[in-house]
Amino acid sequence: MAGSPTPDRVLVAGASGATGEELLSVLRPTDLSVRATTRSYANVDTLERHGADEVVVADFFESSDAVAAVENCDIVYCALGTPPSLRHVTGGKLVDRTGVINLVTAAIAADVSYFVLESAIGVGNSKAGLSLPARLLIRGSLRAKRDAETALRRSGLRYTIIRPGSLTNEPPSGEVVVGEGGDSVSGSIPRADVARVMAASPFTPDARNRTVEVVSRDGLSSAPTNRVNIDWADDLLTSGHEHRRV
Ligand SMILES: NC(=O)c1ccc[n+]([C@@H]2O[C@H](COP(=O)([O-])OP(=O)(O)OC[C@H]3O[C@@H](n4cnc5c(N)ncnc54)[C@H](OP(=O)(O)O)[C@@H]3O)[C@@H](O)[C@H]2O)c1
Repeated sequence: MAGSPTPDRVLVAGASGATGEELLSVLRPTDLSVRATTRSYANVDTLERHGADEVVVADFFESSDAVAAVENCDIVYCALGTPPSLRHVTGGKLVDRTGVINLVTAAIAADVSYFVLESAIGVGNSKAGLSLPARLLIRGSLRAKRDAETALRRSGLRYTIIRPGSLTNEPPSGEVVVGEGGDSVSGSIPRADVARVMAASPFTPDARNRTVEVVSRDGLSSAPTNRVNIDWADDLLTSGHEHRRV
């Protein structure tokens, strides 16, 4: 339509994953144009059915794939993760480090205006939010995520790092408890809630350049400390709103 603004293009990296699929649902009713990624051509039709406007087949271990994926995108939502593997314990080459850093590097070069990273409670200063046995079991991926978080904070990009507790496939609770740093919140959260706060982050002034831990109120496993209030702009995640990045 003449005179109407071009919708921002956003990238959902890891759209074929469980959080990625929830992100596609949240972004579908918006005016944002959604580019989704998967490593498998077999997932392309499904991603289009779930609302992706375009699908890019990309392996983020390849920096050239990251460059192609972010081209002409304003916002990157990163929901990449390593499938079940011994590498969660041993570390080494993990998409949580190498893939995310390739994507951050590509985002800087492409002048992306906002990067939202799904990390995890247990990473960096949120270590106390995860039990010691759980931390030992995934120590390789926790270290990889710590390195990716650091790269994003140092990138100069505007960002929000969302560290969810244990992920569930329950329906969205709509009641997200947010903590920040150190011993804050712990427990579980539906991926659908995580997707909502991720999607809203670039439009939420309070969320800019912050690293927060999130669980749902029902999922809290202990009394929260270091709680913060963030007024998520999730009412903007409907059609007809101008998407004003912060
Ligand atoms: N499970 C938990 O309780 C928990 C708790 C806190 C945080 N987290 C973190 O939350 C994030 C999302 O978890 P999830 O379970 O929702 O996701 P998931 O279902 O494991 O999906 C992972 C996504 O990453 C993609 N991927 C993996 N390796 C890739 C590569 N080399 N190049 C490109 N794409 C690649 C997969 O795409 P393909 O289609 O190509 O396979 C898939 O879309 C992860 O980082 C996870 O560690 C998990």
